[in-house]
Amino acid sequence: MDWTNLYQPRIATAEEAIRKVKSGDRIFLTGNVSIPSKLLAALVDYAPKLKDVEICHALTVGSADYVGPEMEGHLRVNTLFIGHNVRQAVQSGKADFTPVLLSEFPLLFKNDVLPVDVALIHVSPPDEHGFCSLGVEVGLTKSVASAAKLTIAEVNQQMPRTLGDSFIHVSKIDNLVPVDYPLPELPMGDGEPSEVVNKIAAYCAELIPDGATMQMGIGAIPDAVLKFLFDKKDLGVHTELFSDGVIDLVNAGVLTNAHKTLHPGKIVAGFILGTQRLYDWVDDNPLCEFHPTEYVNDPFVIAQNARQVAINAAIEIDLTGQVCADSIGPKLFSGVGGQLDFVYGASRSEGGVPIIALPSTAKGDEISRIVPMLNQGAGVVTTRNHVHFIVTEYGVADLYGKTIRQRARALIDIAHPKFRPELEKAAKELHYL
Ligand code: COA
Repeated sequence: MDWTNLYQPRIATAEEAIRKVKSGDRIFLTGNVSIPSKLLAALVDYAPKLKDVEICHALTVGSADYVGPEMEGHLRVNTLFIGHNVRQAVQSGKADFTPVLLSEFPLLFKNDVLPVDVALIHVSPPDEHGFCSLGVEVGLTKSVASAAKLTIAEVNQQMPRTLGDSFIHVSKIDNLVPVDYPLPELPMGDGEPSEVVNKIAAYCAELIPDGATMQMGIGAIPDAVLKFLFDKKDLGVHTELFSDGVIDLVNAGVLTNAHKTLHPGKIVAGFILGTQRLYDWVDDNPLCEFHPTEYVNDPFVIAQNARQVAINAAIEIDLTGQVCADSIGPKLFSGVGGQLDFVYGASRSEGGVPIIALPSTAKGDEISRIVPMLNQGAGVVTTRNHVHFIVTEYGVADLYGKTIRQRARALIDIAHPKFRPELEKAAKELHYL
């Protein structure tokens, strides 16, 4: 059947489409900078007519109306990664959090652990064959959109047409809502990196060999590292997400992907977070291949890249090497994301370099992030069995294959000098030293 015959009858306004949501439904909301904000606003307006609707998503940006107190009994958020806009609601018990590895996020929905009634997604206009690109968020959305009983898409003139395994055919979309607005921006880091972040980034860069394939996690440090790589040769990218930093490395001829052992010549990713410059750059750009996250983040896929480097951040680390990255004590802060997927994938890659990078202190040097024991209630994201390199502004600790005694020594040596005596004392009391 000619797809253009399907298209016209499926066009709806956001308000019309949202009326198909029923009480008791589970909604999947595509997220990151792909948030379908017209559909979300229509859902918030319609919510008083609904009871007990669950809305599942990962990181979202923008308005938190849908998690406000007036939604109680109508809409309840179940987030699988805690972003800024829902953090307060999760921490006060007004919204739910489901911990899951990013590599397994789509599988929860696809395999009916969390069956989806309605998927709200955001796509580019269809091409001549009727395929819409999932644009800036392919990884978490592709499989879930196909698994949902009902799929409603905003079709945005300004959604870039990204390439790869990134398309959905209009025949698979029940309602199409035409929109035309710019995507929200989420640059990594607030302006220029601090001196501490630059020092950490420079140490990370020393660990990165020519021909490495890079993953950059979320936060200021991973993106800052890119600025220290201009003297490297033939780097590549295989990552769940990337940001604006890659463009300059490509333009400088450093990021060629030439020595990648999997998908040579291509940047492979699940989604992007950044500015309009990045969104324009990925549009119809055959250098970038987007894939579902259950593929990109599968540690055994990652491991097929030789010299895979993983750079992720942390909140604190104990002297045995347990890395907390998703909570501040018992206060849930974010989620595992792809950290463990990439730490383990890089660990299994030939010549791989898994790095956890963090400033030695928090709260204006009041708190050491290297601690004898994790804060009570802190969540372990990277276990002490998985951990390899730890980097602070004071240097690098290589924990892999090291005893607890060696780990404690190496970590104290890269702690802030003002905390080293008390860490040493605690390590002795714990019989680590
Ligand atoms: N004790 C108390 N507060 C702490 C702390 C500690 N040990 N460590 C950090 N904090 C506070 C900071 O002061 C900051 O507070 P503020 O927002 O009020 O300024 C906040 O926690 C965030 O810390 P910061 O180091 O600035 O975060 P970041 O933006 O660089 O991100 C992570 C670091 C770990 C939070 C982030 O990488 C993350 O969420 N990771 C999840 C797992 C992951 O890496 N996944 C891969 C990518 S999806």
